[in-house]
Amino acid sequence: MQTTFAISDTTQQYLNLEHEFGAHNYHPLPVVLERGEGVFMWDVEGNRYYDFLSGYSAVNQGHCHPVIVDALIEQARKLTLTSRAFYNNLLGTYEAYITDYFGFDKILPMNTGVEAVETGIKLARRWGYEVKGVEANKAQIIVCSENFHGRTSAVISFSTDPSSYKDFGPYMPGFTVIPYNDLNALKEALKDNNVVAFLVEPIQGEAGVVVPHEGYLSAAKSYCEAANVLFIADEIQTGLCRTGKLLACDHEQVKPDILLLGKALSGGLLPVSAVLASDEIMLTIKPGEHGSTYGGNPLACAVAIAALQVLKDERLDERAEEMGQLFRERLAALKSPYIKTIRGKGLLNAIVIDHPRPEAAWDLCLIMKENGILAKPTHGDKIRLAPPLVITEEQIEEAVSLIEKSLNSLTA
Ligand SMILES: Cc1ncc(COP(=O)(O)O)c(C=O)c1O
Repeated sequence: MQTTFAISDTTQQYLNLEHEFGAHNYHPLPVVLERGEGVFMWDVEGNRYYDFLSGYSAVNQGHCHPVIVDALIEQARKLTLTSRAFYNNLLGTYEAYITDYFGFDKILPMNTGVEAVETGIKLARRWGYEVKGVEANKAQIIVCSENFHGRTSAVISFSTDPSSYKDFGPYMPGFTVIPYNDLNALKEALKDNNVVAFLVEPIQGEAGVVVPHEGYLSAAKSYCEAANVLFIADEIQTGLCRTGKLLACDHEQVKPDILLLGKALSGGLLPVSAVLASDEIMLTIKPGEHGSTYGGNPLACAVAIAALQVLKDERLDERAEEMGQLFRERLAALKSPYIKTIRGKGLLNAIVIDHPRPEAAWDLCLIMKENGILAKPTHGDKIRLAPPLVITEEQIEEAVSLIEKSLNSLTA
């Protein structure tokens, strides 16, 4: 039997507004949120929820982190946008800070995650022509099936998910799709001398938190090096302490040639993304050849410095590692017949639901909402469970008991 819950008039009014005046490009759970603090959000009726999505890992530092909010307010009173037609007094400071933080020569600042991906693609192609010597317009980039790198026309051109690409063609050429976590396929694809880059998520988040086998990333990096091909890590979801290390690549001591960051780079306050690379790669793009009006704006710079400082000051990598282990242990101890798989790293986790009804994962999320914990299914039967990294041991215990209660009331 399908799960339904009564919706209050107040909530319904907000749902109606979005339905009537907004594009129907999302399918949200029927909860209307108006406030957030740390691991919690509150709806318009005052109900409190654990946030187990964290804005797809944008809110690693917790909702409305006071240090980041203060940085935003202070800077918003002074200067928010100059465009890159002029210098501003924060961009250089931020560039020095973030390149030192991650150990790269240069940063190219952008806004949304997909813009960072687009920038990475353009940089890799440019490097391919100018440094590697690939013939004009022949560059190939290897990507993985089930990838998720965003929603622009170029990026959906190499998606393998019909809901991302169907009826949005014609598609951009120049991408070779290989299976994820398959080193032989990578080795084979790298034989093409026109390959300039391998673009990969260290853990596939949207696909349902698919963790590759240990050694995959380090072997992939060394194959790329041997073939003179750039290794581009899309750490937009996995980076910034989410998986228990500053970067998911750090689990295998891999340093990407091009590092893509977004989401938690602002702690959920603004769209802030970044591309980090060496001089050899970054300086192939010359003035006027790439950019964005808001990229590197002083407000974003102030917020990003604060967001990165919070990750370090609060040691959120260690916390994600410890709380993630505890969380997976507690979930495993539930021994629920409806949980087929528990997987993840740090606090990027997912359960795969085993249930005869295909909509059971959605129903479970509705029940969890009623019980005060918010999560969203991805690709049907998978539920990503990724709370803000500031979560405490007691909160993990309480959240697991809410998940248990919800599983117990999932009907057969
Ligand atoms: C791995 C990865 N890359 C890129 C993106 C796109 O980021 P944005 O939605 O900010 O464009 C996402 C978003 O979920 C992502 O998970």
